[in-house]
This record gives sequence, C-alpha cells and structure tokens, in this order.
Amino acid sequence: MGYTQYMNESWVPEISTSESESSTVGFNVGRLTVPVGYQPVGAQLSEMIARSSFDVTIVRYPSIHADLAFGLQHPDLVSWQADTLMYFETDRHLEAKSHSKVELNRLEVDSAKSLSQIVEDIFHGYTNHYAASPLFEGVNIGRAYSDWAMKSVGQPNRSVYSASRGVDAVVGITVVDTSTVDYDEVLLAGITPDARRAGNYTSMLSLVINESVKSGKRVVISTQVSNVGVIRAWVKLGMLPVLALNTLHVVKRSTLDTYVSSQVK
Ligand SMILES: CC(C)(COP(=O)(O)OP(=O)(O)OC[C@H]1O[C@@H](n2cnc3c(N)ncnc32)[C@H](O)[C@@H]1OP(=O)(O)O)[C@@H](O)C(=O)NCCC(=O)NCCS
Repeated sequence: MGYTQYMNESWVPEISTSESESSTVGFNVGRLTVPVGYQPVGAQLSEMIARSSFDVTIVRYPSIHADLAFGLQHPDLVSWQADTLMYFETDRHLEAKSHSKVELNRLEVDSAKSLSQIVEDIFHGYTNHYAASPLFEGVNIGRAYSDWAMKSVGQPNRSVYSASRGVDAVVGITVVDTSTVDYDEVLLAGITPDARRAGNYTSMLSLVINESVKSGKRVVISTQVSNVGVIRAWVKLGMLPVLALNTLHVVKRSTLDTYVSSQVK
C-alpha cells in the first residue's frame, strides 16, 4: 500500500503513530517508511526508534537497501524480517479475455454498509506481515481490512467498487487511490472464497485498469511476495514488476522480554 509514500522525494525520517494498530493490539505501534531514492543510515534510524515511545515500529524500505536489515541492530532493539511486498504496474488497455464478466459498481456510504461482512470473508485468514509476530496475534485481519475498506468509501481521491455477477451477486471488492496524476493505485482487491478460480478477479481488475488507462494513467498494485496466486494473475494480464519493499518489525527489547516472560508458565 501507499506507492506514493515510497516516491516521496522530500522525505524527513520520522515515525508516525499508527492509532488503529495501537488500539487493536494494546501497545504503541509506529510506522517508518523509507522511500526510494533516500539512502538510509541504519545507525541514525535505529537510534531514532530506540528513543521513541513506540513498542513496535513497522519499518518499510526498498529491498535494494539490504544493509538496513543489519543496520537497524541496536542494544535496545530486536528486529526481524516480516514480509516483502512486490509492486507491479501496467499502462496497457486490456482486451477482455476472461470467461467471466463482472460489473463494477461504485460504492457510496449507504450502499457499502451491507458489504462489510463480505469483505471480511474475502480477507479472512489473509497472511500479511502481522503473521510474523505473536504480538499481532489479536488482530482479526479480515475485520481490519473490512473496516479499512468501509472507511475508504466516500473519501476524496478514493474509488471503492464492488464487482458483481448478475443482480446483487457481489463477488469482489476493490479500493483504488486516484490521488496521483500519473497513476492510480489499487490498494485492496479480492474475490469471495466461493467465486474464486472463475476469472472474476481478472475481469474486475481489467475493468479498473481500462478505466485508469482511458484517463491517461497507469496502474500500480502490490502484494506480499508469498501471494503467488495473485502475482500469476498479474503476469497473465501483462503487468510488470516495478518495486520490492521489505517490512521489518523492530521491537523494543523490554517489550519482547515482557511478552516472552508472560508466555513462560
Ligand atoms: C487472489 C485472488 C484475488 C484471485 O481471484 P480469482 O477470481 O480466483 O482469480 P482468477 O480466477 O481471475 O485467476 C486468474 C489467474 O490467477 C492465478 N491464480 C488465482 N488464484 C490462484 C491460486 N490460488 N493459486 C495459483 N494461481 C492462482 C491463476 O493463474 C489464475 O488463472 P487460472 O485459474 O486460469 O489458472 C483471490 O484468491 C482472493 O481474493 N484472495 C484473497 C485476497 C487476495 O489475495 N487479494 C490480492 C492481494 S490484495
């Protein structure tokens, strides 16, 4: 998520509070995003994290800066790799090859309400970087994505669509960030479990891509590198890889010690 953040050329290193994550897990969670084009200095960033009030800092940085994995070592911190995100892009109009054909319906606040359970079901059990830490085991991932998608409805520069087949048969959801002049970013997209492997995602994404390309923009999209199913779908659509980002969980040693002690019977 947040391709624009990684392209930010006037970046100042700082950790932002993640209020929703902090309130869900019950400790202070911060986010530190290192953009492309910035040469991070591990010692400087680790000192900043160690002095901060955050128990856990989720650091995202371009995978090309592989030295950061060791560079963030600090006596007061413990860090580990939590996932790698891959971004793909395309600027090509797609011919409808999929045997499925869905319709996109732009959601408004009222029409979206009834879809919250469907979105929760789509992302139930989804594996993201939270899976790398027991500190996040209280997060209901399906619910978290659903709440986030519902909050996106009606926001400026966001388009949220359901994909349906026939009357009322919603089979998918997608959230698109349209705030940037050159590209649109698909922030979230998925298909209900019982409607998978029938070409519905291919059809939904093709419609989104064609809409953006028609308005002169390319489309960027990302996922965990482990999500090979969706990456295969993008490759079949002719999308190309453009960026890889690593996610590290950087935890205060005292926070981790407290957690480990609480697990010892
Ligand atoms: C990944 C997902 C979107 C695919 O939706 P879908 O409607 O099943 O996709 P399609 O039927 O259009 O599949 C297109 C191609 O993608 C690939 N693919 C899709 N799911 C796959 C899987 N589970 N394993 C391997 N390849 C897969 C295949 O190449 C497939 O073509 P094929 O069926 O002819 O072999 C769906 O499984 C899903 O919503 N998962 C949970 C949420 C998610 O991962 N979202 C994407 C990241 S935010």
